[in-house]
Amino acid sequence: MSQNLLLKPIQVGSLELPNRIIMAPLTRQRALQPGNVPGPMNAEYYAQRANAGLIISEATQVCPEGQGYAWTPGIHSDEQVEGWTGVTAKVHDAGGRIFMQLWHVGRISHPLLQPNGADPVAPSAIQAQADCFVVDPDGTPHKERTAMPRALETSEIAGVIESYRSGTANAMEAGFDGVEVHAANGYLLDQFLCSNSNQRTDNYGGSLENRARLVLEVLDAVIAEAGNSGRVGLRLSPMGTFNDVDDANPLETFSYLLEQLKSRKLAYVHVNKPDWAGGTYEGFDELYQQLRKVYPGTIIHCGGHTPESAARTLADGDADLIAFGRGYIANPDLVARIASGAEWNKLDASTLYGGGAKGYTDYPTLG
Ligand code: PHB
Repeated sequence: MSQNLLLKPIQVGSLELPNRIIMAPLTRQRALQPGNVPGPMNAEYYAQRANAGLIISEATQVCPEGQGYAWTPGIHSDEQVEGWTGVTAKVHDAGGRIFMQLWHVGRISHPLLQPNGADPVAPSAIQAQADCFVVDPDGTPHKERTAMPRALETSEIAGVIESYRSGTANAMEAGFDGVEVHAANGYLLDQFLCSNSNQRTDNYGGSLENRARLVLEVLDAVIAEAGNSGRVGLRLSPMGTFNDVDDANPLETFSYLLEQLKSRKLAYVHVNKPDWAGGTYEGFDELYQQLRKVYPGTIIHCGGHTPESAARTLADGDADLIAFGRGYIANPDLVARIASGAEWNKLDASTLYGGGAKGYTDYPTLG
């Protein structure tokens, strides 16, 4: 049965995975306050899902400026490193493997989330027609329109790269098996890649080569810090329009980027169709097929999969691994359910973001 391909071990970078089912990165906004520090409840949540071939952590800000939503965890303070150490230890004790997703939101933020109430930073001073999530000074949490960002000075780019490098060092210290650079979904690195959000006139904007420069320089710094490109992945969302990015020529942009990645021998490239954010994604599958031809390395495919579509994608050779997001939120034992063909628990959308154990660590397992 072709579905068994999902359950077949595979070597990914430096890791031997027992199956090809990936837990997708998922924002859940449940870090301890103050300080955006992961705690024992987060460790329990991830350990419950250690059956995945690989867990990719929720997006985690590499610096305070990288935050765009209340209560998301960071990897820039000693307390956060200590908190994450508790998470990785519990995942490893449960037999799992976990990468950290390294995040900088760029313009998807607001002064209420920024150090000293500053404006968020971006490639260009173009406001996104998108929302972030803030807490008012009186403690009231709510959605908020993202603020007008400030364009990063050329001299500040080195500092941005440094925050990804130090995030990698901290993630490794905290016991992660590797890191995934988040260059998808309209956050900072995607804002540099996409033509509508990057109107810079220095070496980091304008031409295709220039728009791709920052993500490649970040990757090189992260690989050098990790000491092994097999411990580094990259997430992309070609054609994604979430957070108001829109690239004029995604085939050209992402083909160029993937060409540049060949020599870097990453653990994987993670291609994501953010269908949960709405949009039709007409033409995505055709684009994806063209990109797959450009890149000979390991690819994780993510976006609304059922066990059947996942098995078919692997059997057709269209990807090497499949990531499940919503499936893993509601089904801690997702691998066992896929193996046995059992029904999946229903997702409770009201408990996705923020709150406590309800809708987080209390989804039932089989039997
Ligand atoms: C979100 O918090 O809404 C979010 C975070 C990271 C993503 C996508 C969405 O890649």
